[in-house]
Amino acid sequence: MLQFQYQITATVTVFLGIVLSFATTGIAGRTSTYIRSQWPSSDIPLNDDVFAVPKGLNAPQQVHITQGDYDGKAVIISWVTPNEAGSSEVEYGTSEENYAFSAHGTVKSYTFYNYTSGFIHHCLVDGLEYDTKYYYKIGVDESAREFWFRTPPKIDPDAPYTFGIIGDLGQTYNSLSTLEHYMESGGQTVLFLGDLSYADRYKYDNIGVRWDSWGRFVERSAAYQPWIWSAGNHEIEYMPNIGEVFPFKAYLHRFPTPYMASNSSSPLWYAVRRASAHIIVLSSYSPFVKYSPQWMWLREELKKVDRTKTPWLIVLMHVPLYSSNLVHYMEGEGMRAVFESWFVQSKVDFIFAGHVHANERSYRISNIYYNLSRGDRYPVPDKSAPVYLTVGDGGNQEGLAGRFWDPQPEYSAFREASYGHSTLEIRNRTHAFYHWNRNDDGKEVPTDDVIFHNQYWASNLQRRRLKKNHSKVGGE
Ligand SMILES: [Fe+2]
Repeated sequence: MLQFQYQITATVTVFLGIVLSFATTGIAGRTSTYIRSQWPSSDIPLNDDVFAVPKGLNAPQQVHITQGDYDGKAVIISWVTPNEAGSSEVEYGTSEENYAFSAHGTVKSYTFYNYTSGFIHHCLVDGLEYDTKYYYKIGVDESAREFWFRTPPKIDPDAPYTFGIIGDLGQTYNSLSTLEHYMESGGQTVLFLGDLSYADRYKYDNIGVRWDSWGRFVERSAAYQPWIWSAGNHEIEYMPNIGEVFPFKAYLHRFPTPYMASNSSSPLWYAVRRASAHIIVLSSYSPFVKYSPQWMWLREELKKVDRTKTPWLIVLMHVPLYSSNLVHYMEGEGMRAVFESWFVQSKVDFIFAGHVHANERSYRISNIYYNLSRGDRYPVPDKSAPVYLTVGDGGNQEGLAGRFWDPQPEYSAFREASYGHSTLEIRNRTHAFYHWNRNDDGKEVPTDDVIFHNQYWASNLQRRRLKKNHSKVGGE
């Protein structure tokens, strides 16, 4: 039923989307006047069923997977055993309850103040076939648990694929609503925009406890499809007052990334290719100035992008480079000044960010000629520029960022402060359908739906080349 409703919405909004996607900055953007009516921004109590510990002695919990290589033929499976290390083995295969293969992982734990984590397992399962459903089993005897996932199609410019986009999720009733809506949306992989658990809002040992509850909370989705992680400010957890000075300690122990597959020197920034997309993950809270490791890595990674194989170039980061919300205004200016010209030169399709607890979409604009002396400091329409999308509305305990700059700046196409998530449905090398899903159901207020043309293939030159090649094939 939901699928049906979604299709109708999609059809109705196609026209609006076409209008918006062709709009220039000369056309005013839209500030939604919709006022949400959702639950208060408080965390779900620890004894709630959504955080239930799985039955069985030392049963694996907090199960989640992420892409394990550059091209999507591997996953990293992670889980926690609470009482003892137990086994780090994953049994897996292509038919249920028949596990022809196994892989061995690693186990470790960490301390945070007086909290000691459970035994955190990570296991790389590689050499998988594309577009195949795999079943996997972790844990031993009657405490063993079974899950499944589907590998992506092979890297192909026309491979259709649907990504979900979630940011700033937390563990409130609104977070649960976002997660449940996402799981009905047909998304195949989550692009996560940082700020995971908001455990750092707690004190002392409860910080570790709330990382554990969040792991159990997202397992319902993250055990069955990869979540591509990026880190936000709530992952830093630099707390010298309690003797914790190693940034990202919990995040790095719990959420591995395949950073070495893209020659990165840090799990905090890396790239993966999946179906028809090249996804670059950046760290807003790591050095990015000229000659820093992240800067040098990004320069090389952009050279590796091949739009004839992966037409869709997507960048994830936590802090938005363009946002007209009063909260966190211009916090991304440092990174914009350093990287924006590369993004424009590379014709990046989308830059997704979180951090601001609202939803916003920009027109294609750039501000790369800003010069301290000359003073040209306004974004201008730029066909080669990315679209900037803020999806920081997952629903955490800090609540919404409801105040925008007024009037709406010309670069802002759509904005609304409500909880939700987005989906990016890539159809082929030229077209993708973007949909922002507000958690409040059944309201006759438009959300945000746009058909996007690919920045590489949809340019006139590429279209001509494409046509020429196709007619050649047809004629031979
Ligand atoms: Fe944030």
